[in-house]
Amino acid sequence: MDAAPEESEFVREVRARCRAEESGVFWVRDGELGVFDPEVARKVHARNFADLTLADKLTDVVRGRTSEPFTWKDVRAAWLPQLRRLSDAEGIRQLGARMEVLLEARAGRPLDLMWVAQEVITQSLLPLIVKSLPAADLARVLRDQEFKLTRLLRTGPSRTTFWSEVRSILAQMRSGAAIRRELGGRASGRRPRQLDLTDPIVDLLPMLGMDRAVDSVTAVITATAGPPGAAAASLLYELARRPDWLARLTDELGAVPLPDFHAEPTRAAPVTHRFVKEVLRMWGPPMFLTRNVKTDLQVDAVSLKKDQRYFVSPYLLHHDPKHWKDPDTFDPERWLPEAPRGACPRASYVPFGWAPTACIGAGLGTAQLMLFCHLLVTRYRIQLSEPGAVRMRLAAMPMPLDFRGTLTPR
Ligand code: HEM
Repeated sequence: MDAAPEESEFVREVRARCRAEESGVFWVRDGELGVFDPEVARKVHARNFADLTLADKLTDVVRGRTSEPFTWKDVRAAWLPQLRRLSDAEGIRQLGARMEVLLEARAGRPLDLMWVAQEVITQSLLPLIVKSLPAADLARVLRDQEFKLTRLLRTGPSRTTFWSEVRSILAQMRSGAAIRRELGGRASGRRPRQLDLTDPIVDLLPMLGMDRAVDSVTAVITATAGPPGAAAASLLYELARRPDWLARLTDELGAVPLPDFHAEPTRAAPVTHRFVKEVLRMWGPPMFLTRNVKTDLQVDAVSLKKDQRYFVSPYLLHHDPKHWKDPDTFDPERWLPEAPRGACPRASYVPFGWAPTACIGAGLGTAQLMLFCHLLVTRYRIQLSEPGAVRMRLAAMPMPLDFRGTLTPR
């Protein structure tokens, strides 16, 4: 078994209760139910989000009118074909090229590698969400992302002050205004249409209205500021401390061209794909997804009232000995069909969450992690400043602490 990670008090408490309570379902706090059984989590989530109708347009609310109902499912459906175009061979090549530039700018000097992973992943994804923003607006969106990441990845006692909150809200408003200008510009023909996730929202503007359109684009920006970068930081952490796997990935990826990663990751690089899947099992972010109960729910033995909340946790499911053999051991070989630690239970592997709000970027996120492996092992040597100090911390996300080191170009 690997060294135990450092846990926040909340994680420690919930994890201990999870092991003690056979059912995997218990009240964590008043009005907040922990649902850590895979089948119950799937059902509760599906039932809670069966009706994904968006709130009325702000303009209608102001005028006391009811908007034409519009469902979040339709927004997701508009994104999916665009995501397929964005992750074809050329899209993946471009994503790899952006990651390469961002990595190069950070190579050759000691840095916090957790932040290197976060910045490379988050910033390379942004043009996929909203492309070709004017420089000042791009800076506003990046600043908002930085605030979101800082808040999410903060460790130790909270240093939130009144003024830091004000700055964060202002950054959010300025980023929203930048997205609003882009949507308005494209709708009026003043700005060109682009191959990105903002573009399908331009077509939906008449039904969505501007506020709901801005919220939709902002939802993707928020969803990509944290989990994908945390997964990449965990991947770098595992690569840095496992020379055997580093050597295997170097052998495999040295011979693989970049753009094949999205279409058939297993065929393109089977060892790397197993490694990435195991990183997502072992350290899948975020630790908890907290959901408001939208309507009274009765699912099996679970009874929830509107406005109560429930928690689900891919991490706890991935580490539950009821479903996994040696769950705390990092072993990419468990993904082989004949593995001694197999077979891997499908319902208990949920790094991208549950329908109907499962991650829209699952395929792309996996391909991006494989690209990250490719760049790291073929272009750099990973040198840790103080290998003994590095440890994994479980708080909002799993994240490596004191992870200073240098990516030295080969
Ligand atoms: C390894 C990388 C990634 C991980 C681990 C990850 C994980 C997750 C998780 C756990 C959820 C919550 C699902 C639920 O509610 O059950 C989620 C939602 C989401 N993710 Fe990802 N994600 C990744 C990459 C991406 C990428 C690349 C994109 C966009 C291109 C993306 C866009 C979204 C969106 C928009 C949602 C909200 C879906 C909804 O509410 O309908 N994610 N992600």
